[in-house]
Amino acid sequence: MIDLSQAEPFASGANRLCFRHPEQPGQCLKVLKPGILNQRYQHQPRLKRLLGRQRLDDNRQEQQGYEQPAIAGRIAGPDEALLWRHLPRLYGTVQTTLGPANLSDLITDSNGEPGRTLEFYLRQGLTDELSQAIEQFCQWLLDTEIQSRNLLPHNLVLSNRSGRPELFLVDGLGAPMVQRLLARHPTLRQRAIQRKIRRFHRRIQWELGGRREPWESVQNR
Ligand SMILES: Nc1ncnc2c1ncn2[C@@H]1O[C@H](COP(=O)(O)OP(=O)(O)O)[C@@H](O)[C@H]1O
Ligand SMILES: [Mg+2]
Repeated sequence: MIDLSQAEPFASGANRLCFRHPEQPGQCLKVLKPGILNQRYQHQPRLKRLLGRQRLDDNRQEQQGYEQPAIAGRIAGPDEALLWRHLPRLYGTVQTTLGPANLSDLITDSNGEPGRTLEFYLRQGLTDELSQAIEQFCQWLLDTEIQSRNLLPHNLVLSNRSGRPELFLVDGLGAPMVQRLLARHPTLRQRAIQRKIRRFHRRIQWELGGRREPWESVQNR
C-alpha cells in the first residue's frame, strides 16, 4: 500500500489527481478524485445508468485504451520503442491510501519537474518549435494508428528532455465500441485518425483565438 496521505498532487484533471510516486520520483500515480464515480453516475441519463458505474472509471478506461492492438501488439516487438516516443508507459494498478492508482511514467522536463501541458504553452502563443512538435505527434498517430478520444491540449504534456519539445499523450486513449469495430478496417482506421487530427487542429486554433465561441459549436465545423 502506497501512503499518499501526506502527499500533494502535482496536477489534476476533471476526474483524477496525479502524484509523484513517493519512492520512485520518475513515476506518476493517478487516483480518482474522491466521490467522482458517484457524482458522474448521478449525472447520467437513467438508461445509461443501467450500464453501471465502472465504465465511468477513467483508470479502467485508460487501461483498456492501452490494451488496443496498436499498443499491446507492439509491446515486446521490434518497434516497441516507437510507442513510447509520445506515450508514457503504463505499468498497471497499485493500491494507495487514496484507492487504486494507475502507475505510469512521469513525463518530465530537462529540469526533472513534471512537464507542462500543451494548453499551458498555447497560452503563450504558437512558436515554430511547438508547431513542429504538434506535427510530429500527429504523424506518430497516423504511423502507429493508435486510437484516441478527442485530442485535447490539456491531455498532452510537453517534455524538452531531448533538447526539443516533444508531446506525450497522458490521457484520452481508446475509443468507444463502434469506433473500435470500424477501426478493424484499415482505410476507416486511417480516416478516423485523420478526423481526430483535423479536430485537434481546430481545437488548437480555438484555444489560440481566446476560446471566443463555445467549443461545442466549433468542433464539428
Ligand atoms: N504521465 C504524466 N506525466 C506528467 N504529467 C501528467 C501525467 N499524467 C497526467 N499529468 C498531468 O496531470 C493532469 C491531469 O491528468 P489526466 O490524466 O488528464 O487526468 P483526468 O483524467 O482527470 O483528466 C494532466 O493535464 C497533466 O498536467
Ligand atoms: Mg485529462
